[in-house]
Amino acid sequence: MASARKIIIDTDPGQDDAAAIMLAFGSPDELEVLGITTVAGNVPLSLTSRNARIVCELCSRTETKVFAGADAPIARKLVTAEHVHGKTGLDGPELSEPTMALQPGHAVDFIIETLRREPEGTVTLCTLGPLTNIGLAFQKAPDIVPRIRELVMMGGGFFEGGNITPAAEFNIYVDPEAADIVFRSGVRVVMMPLDVTHQLLTRKDRVKRMAEIGTAPAKAMVEMLEFFERFDIEKYGSDGGPLHDPTVVAYLLKPELFKGRDCNVEIEVQSELTVGMTVVDWWHVTERKRNAKVMRHVDADGFFDLLIERFARI
Ligand code: RIB
Ligand code: CA
Repeated sequence: MASARKIIIDTDPGQDDAAAIMLAFGSPDELEVLGITTVAGNVPLSLTSRNARIVCELCSRTETKVFAGADAPIARKLVTAEHVHGKTGLDGPELSEPTMALQPGHAVDFIIETLRREPEGTVTLCTLGPLTNIGLAFQKAPDIVPRIRELVMMGGGFFEGGNITPAAEFNIYVDPEAADIVFRSGVRVVMMPLDVTHQLLTRKDRVKRMAEIGTAPAKAMVEMLEFFERFDIEKYGSDGGPLHDPTVVAYLLKPELFKGRDCNVEIEVQSELTVGMTVVDWWHVTERKRNAKVMRHVDADGFFDLLIERFARI
């Protein structure tokens, strides 16, 4: 068995973040979670740091190191998304407060130290929220960039437009300066935009299969998703809501589920109208560097089969 792939999960839980973390925990043979770093995004940092530990305890993975990171974007006021995720960010199930402690030290320093310690090219960054921690780490320690195997991120949108503004997806919109640092850094980016995640709807039949797992973690996840999807069902009139963040972990487990191409991606940081937009040169109409592998298609049934199969292992 090849050794497990080393990952750091940077996250702003968020029910869909919780699903991504649970998918990683359900795949211990393939993924070694070196640590979880939290960032302000869906809800303020104190809550994303609380929620990350709740998910670890829900999955009986209390040995996981959780580090709190940035409580605000690099150059802007924090924008949060309680309207989607609820006041706590993890609304839906009845959950008790976490008992496991946060690790001492800042998430940015954990990311830097880990990348400097682990052999070059062996650590993958999985980002599920605004890129503030990553942007700060790259500013503080540019030497870590070439040491990163891949940065697989949920964020952006192009053909699908935006979800927090007509032009911008939430993770990029919250901290466009951080995203700009990341996309200009030269790190190998794999991008899961709304163009992919909007094909992954938490349809009733899929949630029913998840409920049939019958375990406490699966039950809590179903209650999270039933809360989380209500906003998008109302907005899009669809059967279920788009399940964004688990695409990042699913890509590491079964990359063949996804199809995309290397493109240039640049981040709008100036215009008030389109700030946070990911401008994707999908048709290669410019000579700009193809700095990201942008996914556009996904096998939705294969994705949910993987999710449900791995959730059942926890
Ligand atoms: O736009 C969707 C993204 O924003 C997801 O990561 C969700 O958790 C929020 O962070
Ligand atoms: Ca998220």
